[in-house]
Amino acid sequence: MNIIFIGGGNMASAMIGGLLKQGWKAGAIRVVEVAAPARERLERELKVKTAAAPGADVAKADCIVLAVKPQQVREAAQALKPLPGAQLVISIAAGIRLKDLARWLDGHQRIVRVMPNTPALALAGISGLYAPRAVGAADRAAVEKILGAVGAVVWVEREEDLDAVTAVSGSGPAYVFYFIEALEQAARELGLSAEAARRLALETFAGAVKLAVQGAEPPSRLRERVTSRGGTTERALKSLEEGRVKEAIVHAVRAAAERARAMGDEFGNDQ
Ligand SMILES: NC(=O)c1ccc[n+]([C@@H]2O[C@H](COP(=O)([O-])OP(=O)(O)OC[C@H]3O[C@@H](n4cnc5c(N)ncnc54)[C@H](OP(=O)(O)O)[C@@H]3O)[C@@H](O)[C@H]2O)c1
Repeated sequence: MNIIFIGGGNMASAMIGGLLKQGWKAGAIRVVEVAAPARERLERELKVKTAAAPGADVAKADCIVLAVKPQQVREAAQALKPLPGAQLVISIAAGIRLKDLARWLDGHQRIVRVMPNTPALALAGISGLYAPRAVGAADRAAVEKILGAVGAVVWVEREEDLDAVTAVSGSGPAYVFYFIEALEQAARELGLSAEAARRLALETFAGAVKLAVQGAEPPSRLRERVTSRGGTTERALKSLEEGRVKEAIVHAVRAAAERARAMGDEFGNDQ
């Protein structure tokens, strides 16, 4: 399967890096990228062929991945018109809706929306997938194969569910890094070396996630097990509750979902 990425930034690079690690041939991947430094980086680091504008390569591709920023999708999609074939189009743009993509692509119907995340680069991504009924089983399987090569996949039933996926797992790695940064800062303020602080923060996170992923007990039960009455963890959790940290996280994720919806309105119109 030949894939052409339109936009070769952070997310496209993470996906391509993951696909190559999984044994995909660099020759089967092309990238259209407007920025010359980004093209050079892609050719140097990922050894994929790039171009400044869509050309004959689009016709040869089985699948087109729209991987530009939401505000750039309209222009990038319109530059593909008329699509030279009935290629499968995958959009990873946050918020941008199928009806707008289809309009920009002259009524093209073989479009699937996907919300991946950057751990794809470490083959540990998770993507939310949505396809309308018009998209057949073979296309759904192709999307699963591409995104499944770089992590887990979850189909959602309604297109608007992708706004929630965007807020939870698309943006989610940033929340996790934020928490790790805070733990590291605390470790340093308590007198540990920078090296020890990073190691302790990262390994604690990785270990706790590993335990939780095993799924023998829900995260709340695992938390209770660490929390002895009158002990250190109890004191810390009390402080987190007083700071309304859980509420702040829920509020933050809701705000992200709302932003995804608003981006769909803002960048989906033709003004
Ligand atoms: N980053 C994430 O964690 C993440 C996660 C899930 C989904 N996404 C989605 O992935 C998409 C890309 O995000 P990103 O973070 O990878 O953005 P990015 O790093 O800005 O990458 C987009 C790249 O496409 C280039 N570009 C703009 N217009 C183009 C066109 N018409 N043809 C070809 N290339 C063009 C941009 O160049 P210029 O910089 O010169 O404009 C930029 O290099 C977004 O829609 C976002 O919602 C991102």
